[in-house]
Amino acid sequence: MYQTKRRIKKGPIIIALLIIIIGVGGFFAIKEISYRMSDTYKLLKIGYSEQETDILLKKYDKEKLSKLIKDKKLEPNIPKLLQQKYYMEKNLDRYLKYLKENTDVTVKEAVSLVNVNRDRDFYEKMEKTDTSKGDLMLVNKYYKLTKDFKPKNIVPISNQFSYEGNEISKQVYEKYRSMWNDAKEEGLLLIVNSSYRDYEVQDAVWKEYAEAHGEEWADNKAARAGSSEHETGLALDIVTNNVVMNEFENTDEFKWLQKNAYKYGFILRYPKNKENITGYEYESWHYRYVGEKVAKEIHDMDITFDEYYAYYLDK
Ligand code: DAL
Ligand code: ZN
Repeated sequence: MYQTKRRIKKGPIIIALLIIIIGVGGFFAIKEISYRMSDTYKLLKIGYSEQETDILLKKYDKEKLSKLIKDKKLEPNIPKLLQQKYYMEKNLDRYLKYLKENTDVTVKEAVSLVNVNRDRDFYEKMEKTDTSKGDLMLVNKYYKLTKDFKPKNIVPISNQFSYEGNEISKQVYEKYRSMWNDAKEEGLLLIVNSSYRDYEVQDAVWKEYAEAHGEEWADNKAARAGSSEHETGLALDIVTNNVVMNEFENTDEFKWLQKNAYKYGFILRYPKNKENITGYEYESWHYRYVGEKVAKEIHDMDITFDEYYAYYLDK
């Protein structure tokens, strides 16, 4: 007996193998080529990390992304900016410029500052306050009221709640009285020291400061005419018995206001450590009425009204 050797035909196997190899290779080659053409690859190549690339792809404007890729220039601040809570697309170029010119400022600070126009000098180019925003109008060193602006509903404040001769908007007076009563229940006494001031009175206040101590000193403490919240009829300077303004922050009345003012629609308008944003030294006595909803939001978010306005109201 002998075995007959079956001859295997190698040709078709080789061809099949070649087809498989070419097919698989081609598949991977196409995959690689399309990856190399993708924005992800190009961004990684420029030097962005995987996380930064993800952020840019998810949050960045499509047109701007194409330009960024075309320019092939690494801008590490852009993904950082895109992650900021109060980032505003329209301010991007200003954020980048501000960060370049102020290397000690963090990305978070740059967003806050540029949003409230701090990349421009105070009083340099004033815009008109949008008074149609009512209780939410913004008056500061960038937005001013016209000389003839008069709040419609100014009423006198009774001496029970205030030093002599103060006036305020009616809706603010109602909330203030309710706040005053609740503070009183806890044995505390709130007194209005200053409230509505018209353009001429504000002008006199600022000029008196400037003549006595110079313009820079005056600007840190008082608004120039047209730029004071006191002209809106929505701001109250609140103190208590027997304290000078600068000592109000040490009183129980101040502590109570810190905890409760927002419940009546008031915010502490010029807080400590926000001087660069508000443009004023800390004022523990100056309360601005914005209504309960916005006061609570500002209180919870721990931001200034200037920042809140820029992000949520300036539409
Ligand atoms: N003292 C505040 C800033 C004002 O003059 O309106
Ligand atoms: Zn004030």
